[in-house]
Amino acid sequence: MPYVLGVDVGTTRTAAAVCRLGGAGRAEPELVGLGGPGGGVASSLQLTADGAFAVGEPGDPRWTAVGFARRVGDDVPIVLGSERCAAEELTALMVMWVAGQVAEREGETAAQIVLAHPPGWGPHAKGLMHQALRAVGLENVTLLAEPLAAAANHSFGRGPVGVFSLGSHAFSAAVVRPFELVAWADGIDQAAGADFDDLVFGHVRATLGREFGSLDAEDPRTRGLYGRLRRDCEAAKRVLSGTFETAIPVHLPSGPVEVPLSRARFEELIRPSVEQAVSVFERVVRGMSLEATVLVGGSARIPLISSLLPGRVVFEAAPETSVVKGAASAGRQLLLGPDDPEPIETSVLVRDDDPLLRFPVGSSLSDDEFTAPPPRPPIDITPLDLPERRSVKRVVRGLAPTGRSRARNSSEDGR
Ligand SMILES: Nc1ncnc2c1ncn2[C@@H]1O[C@H](COP(=O)(O)OP(=O)(O)OP(=O)(O)O)[C@@H](O)[C@H]1O
Ligand SMILES: [Mg+2]
Repeated sequence: MPYVLGVDVGTTRTAAAVCRLGGAGRAEPELVGLGGPGGGVASSLQLTADGAFAVGEPGDPRWTAVGFARRVGDDVPIVLGSERCAAEELTALMVMWVAGQVAEREGETAAQIVLAHPPGWGPHAKGLMHQALRAVGLENVTLLAEPLAAAANHSFGRGPVGVFSLGSHAFSAAVVRPFELVAWADGIDQAAGADFDDLVFGHVRATLGREFGSLDAEDPRTRGLYGRLRRDCEAAKRVLSGTFETAIPVHLPSGPVEVPLSRARFEELIRPSVEQAVSVFERVVRGMSLEATVLVGGSARIPLISSLLPGRVVFEAAPETSVVKGAASAGRQLLLGPDDPEPIETSVLVRDDDPLLRFPVGSSLSDDEFTAPPPRPPIDITPLDLPERRSVKRVVRGLAPTGRSRARNSSEDGR
C-alpha cells in the first residue's frame, strides 16, 4: 500500500515512521524499526576501508561522522580521516539509507518523504539539503520544521500551540499554528540531554573525590572506565524519570563501588539549565494565548521539565518519537488533505506549485537558486594524528534504496 515516510535525523538517533495512504478512516503513523537503539538507528556514518559508509555502527572515531544533521549549512566540512564531507551530504546519505530500509520492508518506495529539520533552518540550509537529497536520488522530499511536525501529531484547533523540544544536544522553543511557524528560538548552546549526563558524571566524580581524582587519565583502562561510566550516568538519568532513587556503578581499579543518586539531587543539578530553557520558551511565547504546549524529545521524559512549563502541557509516552510520527502524518495531509474536513494551510510545506518557496522539489530550477553566503577563509582542520588514507568509493554498503542515482562524493568530483 502506498505510504508517506517521515524521517527525523537527530544528533544521536535517526527515526522513521510511515503513514499509509490507502484504507478507510484516519491513518495513524507507525514507527519503523531500524535495528538500533529505541527502534531507530544511531545517527552515525562510518567510512569503511572499502570506501563505503556503514550506518549506525560505532567504530574508529577518526572515520565516524556524528552530529552532522545539526551542522547543515555550516561551511566547515566534517573530517573523516583524509576525506572532508559536507554535513548535508552525510544527512542525505542517512535519509537515503532509511528510505532504502523502509522500501525493502514495504516492497515499494515511499510516495513522499518528509524530513524534519530544526526550526532555524533558513533558505540556505534548506537549499543545500534539497540539493544533497537530489544528489542521492531522492527527489520527493518535503522539508518540515520539527515543531510543525510535532504539532501535526496532535489534533489541535487553529489557535497557537507552543512546542518545547529537548533532545540529546538540541533545544528549541516555538509557537505554531497549523503548518505555520509563528515564532521560534533554537540552538545547541542551551543545555540538553548530553549536558545532563555530564552533570551526573560530575556528581559521581565529586562524590568519589580523591579516589576518582587519582586515576591516571593516560591509562587505557581509565579511558574504558570513563566510557562505561558515562553510559551508566546516562542510564541512571533515564531511570530517575521513573523512580526516585538509583545508584551508579563505578568500576574502580580497587574494586567496584556504587554512587547513589536521588531524583531530588538530579533535579537540583539540572534545574538551572531547565529554568534557562523555560525562560527562553516564555520569551518566545510572550503575548500569545496558547492552546497547549507540546513537549517533545527524549529529555522531555524528565518530570521536572513539564512541571516547570506554564499552561497546559501535553506529551506522548515516547516524546522522542513525536517529531517523526508527526512528519509522516503531515506528509499524508500534504498529499491527501486533512482527515479533519476543515481545510488547512499547507504552504509551509515545500510544493512545486508554491511560488513563495524557492526550492521546490523535483522542479527544473537549478541548484544555484539559493543565495550562498560569502566564502569563509579556509580553515586548517587537519587532525594531528592522520589515519591511513580511505576515500569514498561507494555510498552505503550494499544499498541502492531508490535505484536512481548515486551520491556525489568528493573523490568522484575531484574536489
Ligand atoms: N527516560 C528518559 N529520561 C531522561 N532522558 C531521557 C530518557 N530517555 C531518553 N532520554 C534522553 O533523550 C535524549 C535523546 O533524545 P532524542 O532521541 O529526542 O535526541 P535526538 O533527536 O537524537 O537529538 P537532538 O534532537 O538533540 O538533535 C538523550 O540525551 C537521552 O539520554
Ligand atoms: Mg531530535
